[in-house]
Amino acid sequence: MLKFWLATLAGVGYASQTVLRPEPSASDFTTFHSLNSPHSIRIRQQNESLCAAGSAQYTGWLDIGPRHLFFWYFESQNDPVADPLTLWMNGGPGGSSLMGLFQENGPCLINEHGNGTVHNPWGWSRNSSLLYVDQPANVGFSYVDEGYTVARDSHEAAVDMHRFLQIFTSEIFPHHSSSDLHISGESYAGQYIPYLGVEILTQNKRYPSEPQINLKSCLIGNGFMSPKDTTFGYWETLCTTNPGVSTPVFNETRCNILAENMPRCMDVYDICTQNPDPAICAAAESVCYKGIVGWYEDESGKGGRNRYDITAPCYIDEICYQESAYVEKYLNSAAVWEALSPPEEVKEYKMESTKVADAFHTTPEGMTSSSEHVLSLLANGVHFLFYQGNLDLACNTAGAIRWTNSLSWKGQAEFSSKPLLPWVSTGRNEPVGTTKEVRVKLNGDAETASRFALVTVDGAGHLVPRDRPDVAFDLLTRWIAGDSFVRS
Ligand SMILES: *[C@@H]1O[C@H](CO)[C@@H](O)[C@H](O)[C@H]1NC(C)=O
Ligand SMILES: *[C@@H]1O[C@H](CO)[C@@H](O)[C@H](O)[C@H]1NC(C)=O
Ligand SMILES: *[C@@H]1O[C@H](CO)[C@@H](O)[C@H](O)[C@H]1NC(C)=O
Ligand SMILES: *[C@@H]1O[C@H](CO)[C@@H](O)[C@H](O)[C@H]1NC(C)=O
Repeated sequence: MLKFWLATLAGVGYASQTVLRPEPSASDFTTFHSLNSPHSIRIRQQNESLCAAGSAQYTGWLDIGPRHLFFWYFESQNDPVADPLTLWMNGGPGGSSLMGLFQENGPCLINEHGNGTVHNPWGWSRNSSLLYVDQPANVGFSYVDEGYTVARDSHEAAVDMHRFLQIFTSEIFPHHSSSDLHISGESYAGQYIPYLGVEILTQNKRYPSEPQINLKSCLIGNGFMSPKDTTFGYWETLCTTNPGVSTPVFNETRCNILAENMPRCMDVYDICTQNPDPAICAAAESVCYKGIVGWYEDESGKGGRNRYDITAPCYIDEICYQESAYVEKYLNSAAVWEALSPPEEVKEYKMESTKVADAFHTTPEGMTSSSEHVLSLLANGVHFLFYQGNLDLACNTAGAIRWTNSLSWKGQAEFSSKPLLPWVSTGRNEPVGTTKEVRVKLNGDAETASRFALVTVDGAGHLVPRDRPDVAFDLLTRWIAGDSFVRS
């Protein structure tokens, strides 16, 4: 497809004032400079030796002033022109989306030696073009010019990501300007995604003559939409067998402590929500950490408990999963470094940016919910899917159920009245989890109803596509096709 987009670009382009000028470069990167906006794109095609993808793949950086966002793009293995475009973002804040690529739903996964990849038959590029972006700038292979600060909240991150998507779909791969866009992600992306969605709708409306982004849906896996509900869900996740364990993780003594501390933690969360001042929210965080979260968290880390799967061991600090160390090793290898050609500003690939995590921590965002943004997207016809691996504690199912039921909107009464029903994914003979959903027309002249769905997955933790790849793939394909999860 390289020829296709080059021809389109050099030819007509999206609009004469924004046509990017390809410029020959010393490396085999193709660089495009926009005539009227301060951005450029460096892009290069990659081959199967880097990632056994089964379709064309491109890597590069989009330069937005002092910030430079790294992307890895895979064409759909099915129909690259007609299939939708799916964006994937990992969380953190500060987590690299290449974790998703190489450990979860990419068309290639890290191999068992950390020196290459294997093709993933359940990669999400089978029926959709798939775009991974390391964001906000400073995460993964993305970087910020010396002397400039990194984003401190999801709104700042969203401003760059909107720009990125606009240029990507109108100028680099213009056939995507009419594709449906699905924004997917995990964990802290439960904040990133609603903020990005709202930024897209706002910009579409404010600048109708600029390239529009055709946002169709958001799908969030084990999302951090509501820290308060997530914290409330700790008790159910650790003190009952509901996650799908034979005995609760915590004993009665501990469960009593958690239960006793819960009301005060909920009260201080509310105070932080009503007065989202960093100092007030930091105090609330501390109360809930000491009273609830810390009882598990303090025993987490290498050799200890795994906050992403209450049944799994933790092999390495923070991320727990051995593959993460392999991904870092692979992405720092000479072969990968040569193929990607990071500029000298990038010293080393790291899966977590502590700089971004620290910057986000100076704002109260991590203690507040993204509910308002979700509601305003639903009101504008953007569909939402929340899927949940049931063994996760960090962004647990109990909290997600509580939060989805508690959202105050026209669909609430119907949604909260429904029971969760078992669903059977394609190719399986028994239920893989439970689900419920509503489709609600939010205003009289709405052409389509907004779809709001919750899907749980048994036997999976925080990283659903890693733990149950075929189920996660089925989730995505049914969702983008508009199919129900419960087959009648
Ligand atoms: C998905 O892609 C496969 C080929 O990879 C194709 O056979 C199938 O029909 C596609 N499904 C949809 C729903 O487009
Ligand atoms: C990866 O490591 C394994 C085990 O050391 C080795 O057998 C294999 O040849 C290596 N592959 C590459 C591509 O270097
Ligand atoms: C409960 O669990 C904690 C932590 O594992 C342990 O220290 C404590 O002794 C246990 N209490 C009882 C009564 O088993
Ligand atoms: C694939 O890309 C690598 C790194 O850019 C290069 O060394 C290799 O020759 C390429 N292989 C093929 C078959 O094009």
